[in-house]
Amino acid sequence: MVDLSVIKTPCYLYDLDLLEKTVSVAEREAGRHGFIIHYAIKANHDPVIAGIIRDHGLGSDCVSGNEVRRSIELGFHRNGIVFAGVGKSDEEIQLALGEDILLNCESLEELGIIDEIAGKSGRVARVALRVNPSVEADTHHYITTGTDENKFGISLAHLQSALDKCRDSEFLDFTGLHFHIGSQIISLEPYRRLCERVNQIWQAFNISGYGGRLLNMGGGLGIDYYDPEANSIPDFEAFFEVFAGTLDLPAGIEIHFELGRSLVGQCGRIVTRVLYTKQGVGKKFVITDAGMTELMRPSLYQAVHKIKNISSSGNPETYDVVGPVCESSDVFAKDAILPETGRGDLLQILSCGAYAASMTLNFNLRERAHPVYISEGKISGNAPVKDFRAHE
Ligand code: LLP
Repeated sequence: MVDLSVIKTPCYLYDLDLLEKTVSVAEREAGRHGFIIHYAIKANHDPVIAGIIRDHGLGSDCVSGNEVRRSIELGFHRNGIVFAGVGKSDEEIQLALGEDILLNCESLEELGIIDEIAGKSGRVARVALRVNPSVEADTHHYITTGTDENKFGISLAHLQSALDKCRDSEFLDFTGLHFHIGSQIISLEPYRRLCERVNQIWQAFNISGYGGRLLNMGGGLGIDYYDPEANSIPDFEAFFEVFAGTLDLPAGIEIHFELGRSLVGQCGRIVTRVLYTKQGVGKKFVITDAGMTELMRPSLYQAVHKIKNISSSGNPETYDVVGPVCESSDVFAKDAILPETGRGDLLQILSCGAYAASMTLNFNLRERAHPVYISEGKISGNAPVKDFRAHE
């Protein structure tokens, strides 16, 4: 057993063996159907994590110029890098053009600017059109992206104009269509509906006739936040089978995916130390040295993360587990049942491999939590050793 008590908290603890295994399963299941996976690096841009994924030969899906730069620096193949986002700046578009990165274009207005910048720099932009398919993802409304309410993608009403614009411009190379309907999608039903919609769109708009040769179905496959240890690897087999079984496109179309959470979500945890257990009025608080600055998801989406006390085997008690940040929403769990918990105990917050470290806040000028890695029972990383109770 690795001794975590020596590591300064809070820290992100990554299980690299689980990551390896998860990526291998995803690759194998995608490979059965000839599907191509890009890693949505927004989920976790840690160089060690992203480096392992790069070594498996996956591409990278980016939503900022800096994510594109990070992906290039890490050695992701340029032709495996795709760049989406509703608000790409001129500089970011120029960067993508200079590196010949595929742009997933999200509006007619953006298409006009890409055309202009490509024309001025004498380059041809490779573009895919991100279409808003108006499909419900059945997930939290903050992480739904494919309905008319959302800012993402080109609406079906504008798709024809966008295709015509691509055909008429010598600076735009139309490659195909991109979709992404949301994140943390547990039921496969929304994906089935998406596939059916894509079949209709491909045919109705004669996408192949416009030169469409690739289809990117985005990401969004959910993970089990309630029982992460029993279900540490998502059911990639069932996921990819939905697409293989439902998509009905002309032969030779490349099918791409952009997976983030499902690849990295379960390989990370936050290790945090209890600073105080505080008796409130009618409830007890466990106050940890990690806060919403290290994991925003519960504050932002009321997301559930399983919490374990690895120091205590006392009788179960009910606590609100909260962080030290000056926000009432800095709460990890309300009415969590934990073994009797005291100052100095180590807690683990599970399923923090995705959208935890990559969404850290600088609020309250909090120190950055360091990553620590476990592989084959050995710990590595440069987290300082603890200074807790340094005064004793
Ligand atoms: N492709 C695009 C265009 C995306 O916007 C996203 C995620 C993905 C792929 C990857 O989705 P995934 O496979 O990871 O679900 N911060 C939120 C999630 C935001 C997701 C944003 N886009 C959370 O913590 O739940």
